[in-house]
Amino acid sequence: MKRILVTGGAGFIGSNFVRFLYRKKRNVHITVLDKLTYAGNISNIADFMDRKDFNFIRGDICNGSLLDRILPGIDIIYNFAAETHVDRSILKANSFVRTDVMGTYTLLQRALKHHTTRFVQISTDEVYGSVKRGSFREDDPLKPNSPYSASKSGADLLARAFYRTYRLPVVITRSSNNYGPYQHPEKFIPLFITNAVEGKPLPLYGDGKNVRDWIYVEDNCSAIELVGRKGNVGEVYNIGAGEERMNIEIASLIVDMVGADRSLITFISDRPGHDRRYSLDTRKIRRLGWRPSVTFEEGIAKTVRWYLKNSGWWKAVRGGSFKRYYRELYSERLARAIERKAKS
Ligand code: NAD
Ligand code: TYD
Repeated sequence: MKRILVTGGAGFIGSNFVRFLYRKKRNVHITVLDKLTYAGNISNIADFMDRKDFNFIRGDICNGSLLDRILPGIDIIYNFAAETHVDRSILKANSFVRTDVMGTYTLLQRALKHHTTRFVQISTDEVYGSVKRGSFREDDPLKPNSPYSASKSGADLLARAFYRTYRLPVVITRSSNNYGPYQHPEKFIPLFITNAVEGKPLPLYGDGKNVRDWIYVEDNCSAIELVGRKGNVGEVYNIGAGEERMNIEIASLIVDMVGADRSLITFISDRPGHDRRYSLDTRKIRRLGWRPSVTFEEGIAKTVRWYLKNSGWWKAVRGGSFKRYYRELYSERLARAIERKAKS
């Protein structure tokens, strides 16, 4: 029986990862440790609550004494817990530095103390910064441009340092942008699907030509599980499906799939420091035997269907604090854009 700790397991990728593990594996015991911030959602893991091989703890990865109680007997830690939204990190980055840097440091320190036999740090392609041509390799320098990616870089480098200095058996995954079921509706794809369903403007930053390399969340989960099992300690693995798309292409696809009007797409002023393009060289993880199994066209169709079917889930999330955040980030920019549209 492997005892697994999934931090941030009530979030988007973490909850999909728990679902993936139960589908693929017998003989695992999973503990989810999650602070349930605005992004964590207990209903994402409600299906597992009655299982004997599942345990949920509401708590903070910055809390060392709590970790001292949880970690004895844990074989493997997957550290998904983080503050994750670039736009929120631009408004205020305190919680990003606290959780992503200090929280990861605390977890690494306690994993060392309790002799955890594997620590999988979930990092991101955003640590490399933006790339004009070609694709980032694992040994490229880190050049983060947002407070989010800078905080994640701090975590990524601390994880590396704990391997180099103390031989903590760390592996690091850097995946590209994920999409799929249970993603918080403030992120690009779910925001555009849910706004389109509600007939609200789709706020597209800048010229809409920024490129992201999209991966269906289940494919990322299978890659993370493989790295946890077969990855070489001290190594970094890029995870991406090579499905690069401009934001405007995705926005158009979504309105068409939802059956909304393309005029809802509204160009608003750009995100400060907006990375133009992300692209990953994934030859290393492919050499471990991993392949993505879902194309972007299949994945986006599944995702749109999931949000159409689960409107209760996202309507509950798009309540009070979401509305305040939405007003703060978009109201003025949307008003200016709509005024410009009316004049032209
Ligand atoms: P998410 O925001 O949906 O989930 C994060 C989870 O962490 C939430 O459940 C939240 O409650 C929890 N959390 C936050 N602070 C915590 C703390 N101090 N202690 C315990 N729990 C805490 O994020 P996600 O999209 O699922 O991302 C998961 C991980 O994958 C993150 O580390 C992120 O940087 C990384 N990642 C995400 C993407 C993506 O496209 N979503 C891409 C690459 C890497
Ligand atoms: P996001 O989901 O925030 O992921 P990240 O910035 O971490 O890649 O955004 C994906 C892309 O979509 C990014 O280029 C920014 C763009 N975007 C918009 O154009 N409008 C929006 O309202 C949001 C949230 C994102």
